[in-house]
Parts: sequence; structure tokens; C-alpha cells
Amino acid sequence: MSEQERFEIVGAMALYGNPDELAEGILKAREGGFTRLDTVTPYPVHGIDRLLGNGPSRLGYMAAAAGLTATVVAKTAQWWVSAVDYPLNIGGNPLFALPAFVPVTFELMVLFASLTTVIGMLAVFNGLPSYGNALLKSRFIRDLTCNRYALVIDARDPKFHADRIEADLSGPAVQAVELLRRERPSVFYKERVLSVSFLVLILGVAIFASAATRLAFRYGGEIAPYNFMKHQTRLAAQQPARVGTATQSVVLAAPEGTIARGFLPYPYPGRPEEAGANLVNTLPVTAATLGRGRDRYTVFCQPCHGRLADGRGTLTAAFPKAPTLHSKKVREWGDGRIYATLTEGQNLMPSWESQVSRDDRWLIIHYLRVLQRSQNASEQDLP
Ligand code: HEC
Repeated sequence: MSEQERFEIVGAMALYGNPDELAEGILKAREGGFTRLDTVTPYPVHGIDRLLGNGPSRLGYMAAAAGLTATVVAKTAQWWVSAVDYPLNIGGNPLFALPAFVPVTFELMVLFASLTTVIGMLAVFNGLPSYGNALLKSRFIRDLTCNRYALVIDARDPKFHADRIEADLSGPAVQAVELLRRERPSVFYKERVLSVSFLVLILGVAIFASAATRLAFRYGGEIAPYNFMKHQTRLAAQQPARVGTATQSVVLAAPEGTIARGFLPYPYPGRPEEAGANLVNTLPVTAATLGRGRDRYTVFCQPCHGRLADGRGTLTAAFPKAPTLHSKKVREWGDGRIYATLTEGQNLMPSWESQVSRDDRWLIIHYLRVLQRSQNASEQDLP
């Protein structure tokens, strides 16, 4: 293969002895119509980018575009997940609540923008990674890291002609002109990459690596020095304490039959009719108590039973449909009977005893009566 076939010319370089001569060389090259210019200097030379005609970097636009994309992606994903696909009522707030979605949006924006900036800077604007650079093969590369200054013209410049470039670049201040060459990739590399023996080798390496990893984990066990987090001598909450050890401070479940001070247990477990006959709602009906009842209803009952207690809640797709609370049955139930249902749960509906306090349950019932009356108003209710 001839020299010319093996190497291709990727540019030319003119060598100067100081930055001022380099600056003049740049101006002369630009007057000559060259546009793809670059410089190599031992230290950053201020203002050289403006002299080369480089505007401000366009990296910022890429980052801005990535940030905007992230905003759209984040908002759309959160809207779809929390308002469309699986609506979640959280304390009666709107399903698509912008303030709640700000953190994720912000994080995603920063993530997209920063990744784009780094990858864009390295890969798009600097063409990395790359196996090397023709400059590194130059005779003068050592001088360029010491006390010489080079102007480099890319061979893709429309004004670049390999036979004329030395004459174009030379001048009184120019100490040397060199053509930059790069070895062409072999035209046969595809044959080698796709050859059977190479593919078999790749496959063999893959099988060996997987098998070795599997066997190492299967029989090698865990890496001993670092398992102290996994095996600790602590007790989980609610786990019975081992008497006689130093770990008796674990929170214990109350012994059976214990009654908290000032709190009588629910007297009619499993006997809702008795509760209906004997329990009365002693809390007053005022604007404040109804407000509290409404608030608790919105948080704990609305997701299933709906805003008007008509059984049209937001959870219906994910949970068996909750019944309306305007049925004749529930309207005729006494407050105590409803209280029994809330305290003990009923079939699919769980007990609310641990989540809604006693008083709040009674207040919810007050508010439920208001809802029932609003949907079944009689003539006497009119003012
Ligand atoms: C997770 C969904 C869900 C929530 C939240 C919920 N319920 Fe229910 N509720 C149901 C279902 C389902 C039933 C029907 C149970 C059955 O099959 O008997 C029901 C039944 C009832 C009944 C009996 C109705 C009847 O006709 O037998 C009452 C009263 C009731 N709920 C009140 C409430 C109140 C008050 C709250 C708020 C503290 C509440 N529910 C919260 C799902 C729910």
C-alpha cells in the first residue's frame, strides 16, 4: 500500500514563536478566507477565541432544551400516574396538585440539564471519545507544550488544498509548516470483526464471564468483611424483648387486657345492634364541630364513598364500589349503629378505630347526617 493510501491529510499546522505572531497569523489566515481554524498553545491565551471568530458556546441552548424536556416529561408522567392511571386521594387535595409535583420536576430538570451539558460538551462539541489526534503525531508536539504556538487549519475547510496550504500559511514569522496526517482505518476491518472465529471468541468470553459470576456468588458466599450491616444484634420494633439481655428497651405490645388511662374500650364488639340501641352521639352540633366532621370525612371517607356520600368516590376503579350512604337503611340507622360500623368495619370496609379518633368518628356521623339531609330534603327544610 502506498504512503498516500495509508494516510489521509486531516489538516495543516503553522508554528510561531510567540502569541503576537500567532495572532497576526490568525488574522492573515482569516483574511485569506479560512474558516475552520484552531490553535494549540502551551497555556490559555486570552482573547484567542474571539480572534478565531468563535461566538459564545451553544452548549447553553442544549442544556435549556434538555431542562424544558425534563419539565414536560416530569409533569406529564406525574399527571398520568396520579390523576389518570391510579388516582390517589391524599387528604382531599386535588389529584393534579402542582406544588406537590415541583420537587420531582426540579430534580429531573437538573438531572437532564446536567447530563446533557456534560455529554454535550465531551461528545458533541469536542468529538470525544476518540482514539487519538493527528496533532499528537506531529514532530512539534513537544514544543507546543513548551514555547511554541501553532495555528491549525482543518482539512475540511473549503479553502484547504493540500498542495497549496504550505504556501498559503507561510510568512516571515512562521517557523515551520507541517501537514497533519492520520492513518486510515484498514478497509478490511469489517471482515475481521465479523469473522466466525472472532464471534466465537466473543461468545466464549460472555459465557465464561456469566458462569464465573454465577458460580462465585453461588459458592463464594458474601464478602465477609462487609456484612456487619446485614447481621446486627438489634431487635425490630414490636419484637418481644429477650429477658436478661441489654435490649429490653424495644417497644412492647401492651399486655392483653390492659386499658389505657381515661379510655374505656368499645363496649359492644361484634354486637352492632346493641351499639345502635345504646350508644348516643353526645357531641354538640355547631359550625365548628360540623367543620371538623367534614374535614375528617373528606380525608377518610370521600375516596370511597364520594363527596356527597353517594358512592361515587375517586377510588372506584381500584376498589370494590362503596355503597351510597343515602339508602333508607343507613338513614334509619341510629348514630350508634353507624358508630359500630365505623369502629369495627363491615365486610370489605376496614375498621377506622386506629385511624380516626372516637370523637372524630362521632363528628363524621354528624356531618354524614347533614349530607343525608341535603340529598333527601323535605318541605319543612325549606326556609
Ligand atoms: C376503602 C374504601 C372505603 C372507605 C375509605 C370508607 N368506606 Fe365505608 N364502605 C366501603 C365499602 C366497600 C362498604 C360496603 C361494605 C359491605 O360490603 O358491607 C362500606 C360500607 C359503609 C357503611 C355501611 C353502608 C351499608 O349500606 O351497609 C357505612 C355507614 C360506611 N361505609 C361509612 C363510612 C365512613 C363514615 C367512612 C369514613 C370514615 C367510610 N365509610 C370510609 C368502603 C369504604
